[in-house]
Amino acid sequence: MYQVYPRSFKDSNGDGIGDLIGINSKLDYIKSLGVDVVWLNPIYTSPNFDNGYDVSDYKNIMKDFGTMADFDNLLKGMHKRGLKLIMDLVVNHSSEKAEWFKQSRSSRTNKYRNYYHWWPAEKGKPTPRWSFFDVNSDAWQYDKPTNSYYLHYFAKQQPDLNWENPLVRQDVYKIMRFWLDKGIDGFRMDAFQYVAKDTTWPAFPTGYELNIQKYYGNGPHLHDYLKEMNREVLSKYDIMSVSEGAGTTPEGALQFVDPARHELNMAYHFEGMGIGLIGGGESHHMNPKGYNLLEFKKVYSTWETGFEKKGWGTIYLGNHDQPRMVSRWGNDSSAFRETSSEMLSTFILTMGGTPYYYAGDELGMTNIRFTNLKDYRDISVINRAQHLKETGGNMAEFIEANKMMARDNGRTPFQWDSTANAGFTVGKPWLKVNLNYIKINVATENKVSTSPLNYFRKLTRLRKENIALVYGKYKLLDKDNKSIYAYTRELNGTRFLILLNFTSKSAKAHTGINLRKASVMIDNCNRLLKGEALQPYEAVVYKL
Ligand code: GLC
Ligand code: CA
Repeated sequence: MYQVYPRSFKDSNGDGIGDLIGINSKLDYIKSLGVDVVWLNPIYTSPNFDNGYDVSDYKNIMKDFGTMADFDNLLKGMHKRGLKLIMDLVVNHSSEKAEWFKQSRSSRTNKYRNYYHWWPAEKGKPTPRWSFFDVNSDAWQYDKPTNSYYLHYFAKQQPDLNWENPLVRQDVYKIMRFWLDKGIDGFRMDAFQYVAKDTTWPAFPTGYELNIQKYYGNGPHLHDYLKEMNREVLSKYDIMSVSEGAGTTPEGALQFVDPARHELNMAYHFEGMGIGLIGGGESHHMNPKGYNLLEFKKVYSTWETGFEKKGWGTIYLGNHDQPRMVSRWGNDSSAFRETSSEMLSTFILTMGGTPYYYAGDELGMTNIRFTNLKDYRDISVINRAQHLKETGGNMAEFIEANKMMARDNGRTPFQWDSTANAGFTVGKPWLKVNLNYIKINVATENKVSTSPLNYFRKLTRLRKENIALVYGKYKLLDKDNKSIYAYTRELNGTRFLILLNFTSKSAKAHTGINLRKASVMIDNCNRLLKGEALQPYEAVVYKL
């Protein structure tokens, strides 16, 4: 699965914003990577407070991105090349500009009133709820026209839909059918673990926001909604579904993806993304010492084995909500950027489940690390900065933390070549281009056989030609090795050994496996000899 952030992929008309015609013009590139499916972040009509994650018209295309005809062409272009298209379905909340919400806020008796969560102000203030993007982290927004508060887990421009209302669910199903009937191949369901809420609004203990998956995820009736959606929509099409988030343990995730339950095909977990953060997953503060490989191995081993008997997992190290893979999990210094990003790609493509790979990571694109807050476009950074300003918080520390964790690090324009603006646009890009595009770009990497880009192509081929890398049983080896992640994947007697050095020093694995007869299937350090120490950030896959 190759994830394309449409705003940043390719601009066709010089307005500085990526668009559908732009993506269409790059389908041969996408195909050349060896990926099968493209997931597009939201492309529906939106006022763009959260870059399309605030939808105002679910059955139309965002003006910035083009027209419905452009969409139809794009879908045709993908199918012609044997690529599948997955759309983002954003239905935990809509935009405040959606017709439903305009109606809903207009009067307490409007027929859309119960499409959202309202609290009448004469009853006093509602039980506090924490908001991801609100300036004051307050998820209840007072709305004058009806003297009531409405709920918004994200920004106040993103009111939460009321899934308890069967009419909301039916309307969502209509939207889904509209796109499925056009022939799309499935949905990535945004923030879906949050749709179900306990509308008696119980109080949560102090500090619950540091454990938000537990309190906001998996609410009452969530699985009833999924079963209903599966019965009424998903099961009627030959498509796939994946939910963002799914409980906090593999057992919990199985409730979403156990085929016998008839809910979803896949779900992705957040536990991996929380590794190495101080004060919980929502703090956006990376430990300056980095992360601990032993913890990394433990988390990924748990999730890998969690789907051994049934269900199906996902594996990813980056997306549009995360920093760049190589900056966060590897080493983006000039000495190690290429090798470490290749090592991380090797990890993703040799684990079980479906790999989700974020566009640009195949080039080893890096964090941009803005030093000026004005360069950020992400509502999450902008609103948190506003809060710090109002409360006199530590701005210098905030700027520092964002150099590692801000989402805009992963959203800078895609680097196509070494011409102006990385060949992304002839206009002024909506978000600054990373200046390292002169070196890190498709055109340059295409020409170098050992580039991260060509290495990634070899990896997708390796995975496709060796089914054991997809379905094989996983076994962690040399568990306490602090430098090397070692494991085998085995299916019907075919066994692969994967060795990954996560450090900038050479290191030795102690797997007890005799490599005399083993053959090297892929390696990012031009390995000639077997068995000796791994070089810094080396990745090697042996067939045993
Ligand atoms: C999901 C999206 C993120 C968005 C949020 C609100 O987490 O991945 O980009 O801001 O939901 O829709
Ligand atoms: Ca454009």
